[in-house]
Amino acid sequence: MSSSSTFAAARAVNYNDTVVRQFSIAAVVWGVVGMLVGVWIAAQLAWPELNFGIPWLSYGRLRPLHTNAVIFAFGGCALFATSYYVVQRTCQVRLISDKLAAFTFWGWQAVIVAAAVSLPLGYTSGKEYAELEWPIDILITLVWVAYAVVFFGTVGIRKVRHIYVANWFFGAFILAVALLHLVNSAAMPVSFMKSYSAYSGVQDAMVQWWYGHNAVGFFLTAGFLGMMYYFIPKQAERPVYSYRLSIVHFWALIFTYMWAGPHHLHYTALPDWAQSVGMLFSLILLAPSWGGMINGIMTLSGAWHKLRDDPILKFLIVSLSFYGMSTFEGPMMSIKTVNALSHYTDWTVGHVHSGALGWVGLITMGSLYYLVPRLFGQKQMYSVRAIELHFWIATIGIVLYIAAMWIAGVMQGLMWRAINTDGTLTYSFVESVKATYPFYVIRLLGGLLYLGGMCLMAWNVAKTALNGRPTDVAIPAMKPAAA
Ligand code: HEM
Ligand code: HEM
Repeated sequence: MSSSSTFAAARAVNYNDTVVRQFSIAAVVWGVVGMLVGVWIAAQLAWPELNFGIPWLSYGRLRPLHTNAVIFAFGGCALFATSYYVVQRTCQVRLISDKLAAFTFWGWQAVIVAAAVSLPLGYTSGKEYAELEWPIDILITLVWVAYAVVFFGTVGIRKVRHIYVANWFFGAFILAVALLHLVNSAAMPVSFMKSYSAYSGVQDAMVQWWYGHNAVGFFLTAGFLGMMYYFIPKQAERPVYSYRLSIVHFWALIFTYMWAGPHHLHYTALPDWAQSVGMLFSLILLAPSWGGMINGIMTLSGAWHKLRDDPILKFLIVSLSFYGMSTFEGPMMSIKTVNALSHYTDWTVGHVHSGALGWVGLITMGSLYYLVPRLFGQKQMYSVRAIELHFWIATIGIVLYIAAMWIAGVMQGLMWRAINTDGTLTYSFVESVKATYPFYVIRLLGGLLYLGGMCLMAWNVAKTALNGRPTDVAIPAMKPAAA
């Protein structure tokens, strides 16, 4: 063995990619399942008889199944996979504990299965995005503590002094979600699958939406920004546009998000001043959100031509355009007078999905397309043309979905507030439902395209995995100085 290869072997780091592989595959599988349920409930809104009179196929039970599946199963597994991958590469060490990492994988799958069984059976705490009953909440807490130990433990034993900014975002996501889950899920159990919230009245509502909005800010945003700061520079082969901006971005974003929750409770029993504080912080939130988006997009400076032929970059960069769009729209919707029109309408659902499908979905898909070939010892995905096709059908699907919901939402808001000269309502509620019907069909079409893209991805991932083999090879931490 030459002296240089001895040096490389001595410095080699053997990463734990088994858990990254498991979470990546799980993200794709749960993505297909969660979106299929989304398409199903979208169809039910157009044709309600699609519940076939079976209680566990009813809209009220399948809707939380959809939100939990896409946010916590699809998004959650992708966040576990990417954070474990990134923390090892940027800290140049193996995960601190393989056993705990395996526990987080199997524990999280158990939470998902428990949700998939209990929600259709009708067990729910009634808190949006926190519907799971107390025994499942306890399991979530155990898994999350293990996740924090693995992640921060790995950062703690790092070989590189600096903590790369992606890890700051992943770390904030893990800590904030722990805090949100513990506070919002505080409840008094009365039987095995029934509990009552520890809070009551308007305090309960405020705690719930402090949780709900920060679930957006930390689960659906901060963790995915961690992906952005690692995978965009990697795929573009360019350094982050401004590292200084990334630090300002981090502190400004996490500080501001915490205060914006009351915008979900405009015109309710919540004191007016608290609603105004929520609106103010939501407006401020535009600045750090766009700062981060600009930092991500400008990382392509000098490499714009790569967007033409690289479908993975298309996923990553277009996700940022949707991030910019939804974080412009959100602050506008938080203005009380705008919210008076948008609240309760499908405009909110359009806003949600421009963030969920456009930002969360596309950045996840782009990051997984980067990861999967590397995890299975392949140069690239089995079919690059299928990635390109996926990108286009997903993008067309998103545009159909959100445009339909915007038009439907504004129409509903205007119909509900229209009054005749004698003071009576111009339209009955059911007339607004009838007018929405064509838009529900267009949304369904958009959803079908998006789901179709996800199925194509599942096929491409399966082909890549079956053609390759799991790689847990020792990767030299540093290139030998001379051959
Ligand atoms: C094929 C793709 C999808 C379709 C067809 C779809 C469809 C739907 C439908 C019909 C609803 C109920 C809307 C209502 O109650 O009026 C909904 C709600 C929701 N979906 Fe999706 N969805 C999809 C993907 C996703 C993804 C990938 C995410 C997140 C990453 C997501 C997050 C949500 C959230 C958070 C809500 C609740 C919205 C609210 O309360 O305003 N969806 N979805
Ligand atoms: C600057 C950033 C953002 C602000 C200020 C903001 C603001 C808002 C406002 C005002 C609402 C409507 C509340 C209501 O009338 O009930 C809302 C709803 C929502 N937004 Fe955003 N938004 C932002 C970014 C995002 C992003 C990036 C996502 C997704 C990734 C997202 C997901 C949601 C969800 C899921 C809801 C529906 C909550 C529910 O009623 O169930 N938001 N947001």
